[in-house]
Parts: sequence; structure tokens; C-alpha cells
Amino acid sequence: MKKVIIAMLAVMALVSCAGKGAASKAIVIYYSQLNSTKAVAEQIASKLDIPIVSIEPVVPYDDDFNATIQRGQKEMAGALPEIKPLNVKLEDYDVIFLGYPIWFGTYATPMMTFLKEANLAGKKIVPFCSFGSGGLNTSVNDLKKALPDSEILPGYGVRAARVDAIPAEIDYFLKSNGYLGGDFTPLPDFSAQAPATEEQKALFHAAVDSYGMIRAEAESVGVRDIPGGKEYFFTAREAMGGTIQVYVVDPDSGDPEFTQVLR
Ligand SMILES: Cc1cc2nc3c(=O)[nH]c(=O)nc-3n(C[C@H](O)[C@H](O)[C@H](O)COP(=O)(O)O)c2cc1C
Repeated sequence: MKKVIIAMLAVMALVSCAGKGAASKAIVIYYSQLNSTKAVAEQIASKLDIPIVSIEPVVPYDDDFNATIQRGQKEMAGALPEIKPLNVKLEDYDVIFLGYPIWFGTYATPMMTFLKEANLAGKKIVPFCSFGSGGLNTSVNDLKKALPDSEILPGYGVRAARVDAIPAEIDYFLKSNGYLGGDFTPLPDFSAQAPATEEQKALFHAAVDSYGMIRAEAESVGVRDIPGGKEYFFTAREAMGGTIQVYVVDPDSGDPEFTQVLR
């Protein structure tokens, strides 16, 4: 009798393990025109050892930036691009790492087509994106509206100018959100926002001025220590009016750079 019970318990344990495995099956699905988002997608897939598929428009985008802007504007106005069939059984997965470039402050139009056509109800969505200056927050808000029956989890975003930072940042992102085991050192909170000093205002300018599309003055800032330097979270007033928030890293050796703008 004892043996039978032990055998039954063993079977139950196996079944529940298999259930758990099935319940956490994940895949990376992404669109990338110029390969920055692709670099993030590949990093996630290789660290987690999960499948990766890319969304392909039927008609590829022009390599010329202005041509893509013009086409993108038309698509945003309603004529979404066709995409090729994905060849993925979505029902096999319940966690989707969903990646896209930021276009016009939100996810790029080929991703819009995918979200229209795919049924992602009940799935956990982990967004990731690449951008010129920012758009993780605004695109995540739009995802929540587009996918009311999915669970949108915290996401990751990186500037196209900082692709070298992807491996270390993705490692931290995956570990700190519990997708990947292994040690990591949690970052401290930022100090409370306090009026920016002249030195901090100059640091802000050094970090954003070369980008060319941010015309703003730092007003207040919070600071924290990060490995190899400091990170700042600025609140700044734009020349056009309005307020933006800007993350800036200032490495002990090397120049300060902004990592993300929140609008
Ligand atoms: C049509 C278009 C619109 C864009 N709009 C924005 C934007 O609103 N904000 C931003 O920060 N970057 C914007 N960008 C820059 C892209 O987000 C950035 O280059 C991104 O890393 C491209 O990703 P990919 O290499 O995966 O294609 C835009 C680029 C294009 C082509």
C-alpha cells in the first residue's frame, strides 16, 4: 500500500511539473526594420533559450529614413501594412516577449497589423522596444488599450544609439523580473526630486544636446548609484512648453548619455 501511495505521489509530482512547464512556455515575437529591436529580441531568446520569430511586412520598407516616415504616416492614418503569415501556433505559448521599434511614439505599424490579426487573449505580454529617444511608456499604454484581455507586464526599452548596452541591461531585466535565474544586485531607488544644481543642469545638456531633438532645461533631478557610475532622473522643461522626464547615465569613465525620454 505504502509503495502504491509513493508511486501515486511521484506521478502526481511529475504531472504537476509538466503542467508548470507548459504553463510557462514563452516565445519572442518581434518586428525590426533596422536591426536594433532584433538585437534585443535575439538577446532575450538566447538567454532564455526560447523560440524567436520575426514579423515580416509583405512589402519591405525602404532603407531611406524619410521614405519610411512617409509610408509610416500613411499607414498610421489607417492603411496598415500586410504582413507574412507567422507560422507559429500561438496557443502553444502563454508568455510572449513582444518587440517593436517605436514609430511616432508607439509600436511600429507592422506590429499593429500583427495585433489586429492575432488572438493574444489570456496571454502574458512582455513588451520590449528600441527607439531614437523614447516611447516604451507610451507604447505600453497603447498595448494595454489594444489588448484589454492580455496581461501587459513591465517592459524594456533601449535607444538605437546604445545597442552595446543591451546584453548587460537584458540580463538585469530578465533576472530582476524573475524570467531568468542567477544573481543580480537590485538597483537602489532614486533620491527624491530636488532642484537641479548648475552642475547637474550642465550634465543634462551634455547628455541630450548631441541628439538634436531635445531642447529642454533641467529643473529637478533624483540620483542613484549604479555599477560603474551614477544614474539621474531629470524633470525638464521643453523650449516648446511642456515637461519631459529623462534618464541619464554618467559613467565614472566616459561621457554622460541619456537612456530614455518619457513624454
Ligand atoms: C517611421 C519612423 C518613426 C519613428 N518615430 C520615432 C519616435 O516617435 N520616437 C523615437 O524615439 N524614435 C522614433 N523612430 C526611431 C526608431 O524608433 C529607432 O530607429 C528604432 O531603434 C528602430 O528600430 P529597428 O532598428 O528595430 O527598426 C522612428 C523611426 C521611423 C523609421
